[in-house]
Amino acid sequence: MLPAIVRSLWLSSSSVSHTHRLPGLALGACVVRTLCTPHGHGDPDVHRHSVKYAVEQCEKRLAEQNIPEPDLSARHMMAHILNGKSLHHVHSRQKTILTDAQLQEYRKMAERRLERTPVPYIIGEWDFRYLTLSLRPPVLIPRPETEELVQHVLQDLKTIPTSSSTRGVEGSDTDSSADTGSSADTGSSADTDSSADTGSSADTGSLHCLDIGCGSGAISLSLLHECPEVSVSAVDINTAAVDLTRHNAARLNFENRLDVVHCSAAELAERFPAQMFDVVVSNPPYIPTGDMPGLEKELNYEDQFALDGGEDGLDVVKDILACSAHLLKPGRSLWLEVDSRQPPVIEEYVARHPDCNLEWLASHTDFQERPRFCHLRRRWS
Ligand SMILES: C[S@@+](CC[C@H](N)C(=O)[O-])C[C@H]1O[C@@H](n2cnc3c(N)ncnc32)[C@H](O)[C@@H]1O
Repeated sequence: MLPAIVRSLWLSSSSVSHTHRLPGLALGACVVRTLCTPHGHGDPDVHRHSVKYAVEQCEKRLAEQNIPEPDLSARHMMAHILNGKSLHHVHSRQKTILTDAQLQEYRKMAERRLERTPVPYIIGEWDFRYLTLSLRPPVLIPRPETEELVQHVLQDLKTIPTSSSTRGVEGSDTDSSADTGSSADTGSSADTDSSADTGSSADTGSLHCLDIGCGSGAISLSLLHECPEVSVSAVDINTAAVDLTRHNAARLNFENRLDVVHCSAAELAERFPAQMFDVVVSNPPYIPTGDMPGLEKELNYEDQFALDGGEDGLDVVKDILACSAHLLKPGRSLWLEVDSRQPPVIEEYVARHPDCNLEWLASHTDFQERPRFCHLRRRWS
């Protein structure tokens, strides 16, 4: 079962990118004024400083300015003002009277939303599966589809025999924050060299995953949270992403099983020893450059290198395909999240490049029935 997506504002599909529609958020100057103006509401039972009034006015102005998802934007920002994150929190406090300081803060948030800053950047955090991650621009805001990618990886990890029988996910009796083993896969002689190559300190799980293009750490940290036997190496070409993943790992207390490395996908074969990983997973940049101008304005706040995958969208994917057989143990999986047009292209690419030493297994659909997740396997020899 997938966890509830508590604050998913975005909006996959229908837009040009197929996936990259962000939580909208923009209030206009009028909104800003209205939020602090005590006139104009027809219902005498609604106090002009109440949560209900402020949210209604905010939503109205957002809608007038054609800001995407005005209702959700207004309510998520109010939830943050009220120190809660569920929309229910806002609903249950409709009559709460806001202080001047709260109204002022809400007004500032509204101003940013009117500039189409994504809500997660305005409130500085976002939920991903069971975790709340700190977020700051330009590091990519994790999308709900990626929660499904993690689910596939977790299922895959369950099929791998390990020395321990206590592997579990949240809700099991196993303490996910505990050290669960003495080294990362004792079966691999290469593992002992990994610290030297990468500066790694992640060495406590019996299964070892690599997350390529870790961004905020959403995939890596969820794997660590939900699979106690896993240790993860997370890499990103962007230092802001590396820093944010480290920050989130420290906040969530996962530093002992996570190794964050600043490097590009093209460097991975040099940076990591052969056959080190049980799973390689990536949500790489995959939007074809030609599609970039058509993306929603909110995406301008995100690092364009996190989105733009080159002419065919597959520049980084091809780097990953080229090094995965080196990185993976025989028979182990590579999972990729891509654009719905790309799985057949990747399948054909792998067939035409036997030197990749990868076998295509399947593509899987996301919650909107679009083929988005590619499952490949390193050949046994
Ligand atoms: C689509 S974002 C995914 C972020 C995160 N994994 C998630 O799902 O929210 C792609 C990430 O890949 C990183 N990236 C882009 N090109 C890369 C490359 N050549 N090598 C390694 N990382 C790269 C970007 O900096 C960005 O953080």
